[in-house]
Amino acid sequence: MTRKIWLAVAGAAVLAVIGVACAGDDGADGVPGATGPAGAQGDTGPAGAKGDTGDAGAKGDTGATGAQGETGAAGATGAAGATGATGEAGADGATGAAGADGLDWPGLIPAAYNDADPIAGGAAYAKWWKTDGGGTGIQPTGPAADFMRCKSCHAWDGNGNRSSYANRTGQSSGKATRPDVSSVDLRAAALSETPSELFDLIMRPAGRPLLQESNAHPNYSAEGGLTDDQAWNIVKFMKEGWMEPTALYDLTVTGEQMSWDYSTTPRTLITPTLTYSNVGAKGDAVNGAAVYTQACFECHGVDGTEIDIGGRSLGQFIREKPHEAWFKAKFGEPGKMDPAMVTVLSDMQDLYAALADVTNFPDP
Ligand code: HEC
Ligand code: HEC
Repeated sequence: MTRKIWLAVAGAAVLAVIGVACAGDDGADGVPGATGPAGAQGDTGPAGAKGDTGDAGAKGDTGATGAQGETGAAGATGAAGATGATGEAGADGATGAAGADGLDWPGLIPAAYNDADPIAGGAAYAKWWKTDGGGTGIQPTGPAADFMRCKSCHAWDGNGNRSSYANRTGQSSGKATRPDVSSVDLRAAALSETPSELFDLIMRPAGRPLLQESNAHPNYSAEGGLTDDQAWNIVKFMKEGWMEPTALYDLTVTGEQMSWDYSTTPRTLITPTLTYSNVGAKGDAVNGAAVYTQACFECHGVDGTEIDIGGRSLGQFIREKPHEAWFKAKFGEPGKMDPAMVTVLSDMQDLYAALADVTNFPDP
C-alpha cells in the first residue's frame, strides 16, 4: 500500500517537471515544448535627410564685346540622404546671374577721342582735304583723288564691295582712276576695334605711299596726309556717327560677284544687280516734310526739283542712291551744303519717308 501511493505521486511529478532527479528510479525523458512565435519585426529606420540644395550656378562670364554673359551652370544635385531611404534630390541651383555687358572698347578712352568731332570726321571720310573735314582745302597733287578718299575704297556704308559698291570697282572695270573697292567690313571693324586701334589702322605708317595709285590702304601719317585731329575725328565718326543702312532702306545684291569673263571676245564685265527697297519705310512722312521745309526747302525748292543733281531731282536721288544721300544731309558738301543739317536718326528716317514719295517729290 505505501509503495503504490508513492508511485502515483512520483508519476504526477514526472509529468510536471522534466528531468528532475528523483530519488529512486529515473523516469523517462519529457517531450520538448514547441518553438515560441518569432519576435515582431524591428521598426523601419527613419528616412534619410533631404539632400542639400545644390549651390547656385557660377555667375556668367563677362560678355566679350557688348554681348550678354553666359548663363551660369545649374547647381549640383544634392547628396543622397544618409540613413534609410535615399533623401530627395536637392533642388537645382539658381541660374547664375548674367555676366555684365562687355564694354564696346575696353581700356582707357584717349582724351583726343573725347575731344573729337564726329561730324567733321564724316566730312573727312568723304574728302579729308576739304576744310569741313578739318583739312587745308588743298587737294594733294598726284594721282586721282579717289585713291585717297576713304569712301572710294570702303563705300558710304563702310561695307565695301559687299553692298552698295558691289557693282563698282576701279581697275578691274577698266576705270584706272578709281581704286578697286575693298572687301573689308569697316563697320564691323569700327565696332570691334578700340579708338586707339582704329587710329593706328587709319594712320598706318606701314601703308602704301599716299600719292601712289594702289588699292592698298594708304599711309595717312605721311607728309601731306591726315593730321592727328582729323584721324581722331574719323575714328569718332566711325564709332558714333555712322547711320545703320537698314534703318533707312533695304538693299539686295543678286548675281555673281563683279569680275571679267574672258571666255568671250571682247571680255565681258559681270556685275551683280543692286535693288534698293523700303526707302524711308521706318519713318513718318508728315514729320519728314517738316524736316524738309526747315532744312532743305530753301535750296532744293518745294518739290525737290529746284537743283539739278547730275540730272536728278532730290527725291529721285534719295530713291536711287539712298546709301549716299544721308551722308550729305548729315555731313554736308563743302561749299554747297552745311554740315549737320540732319543729325538725329529718326529725323533722317522721316526725311527719307517724305522724299521717297514720288508724287510730292517727283523725278525732274
Ligand atoms: C585705296 C583704297 C583705300 C583707301 C583710300 C582707304 N582704305 Fe582703308 N583699307 C583698304 C584695304 C584694302 C583694307 C584692308 C586691308 C588692310 O587692312 O590693309 C583697308 C583697311 C582699313 C581698316 C582696317 C579694317 C580692319 O578690319 O582691319 C580701316 C580702319 C580703314 N581701312 C579705314 C580707312 C579710312 C578711315 C580711310 C580714309 C581716311 C581709308 N581706310 C582709306 C583700302 C583703302
Ligand atoms: C544752302 C543750299 C542747300 C541746302 C539748304 C540743301 N542743299 Fe542739298 N544741295 C545743294 C546744292 C547746291 C547741291 C548740288 C551739288 C552738286 O551739284 O554736286 C545739292 C545736292 C544735294 C545732294 C546730292 C549730293 C551730291 O553729292 O551729288 C543731296 C543728296 C542733297 N543735296 C540733299 C540735301 C538735303 C537732304 C537737304 C536738307 C536736309 C539739303 N540738301 C539742303 C544745296 C543745298
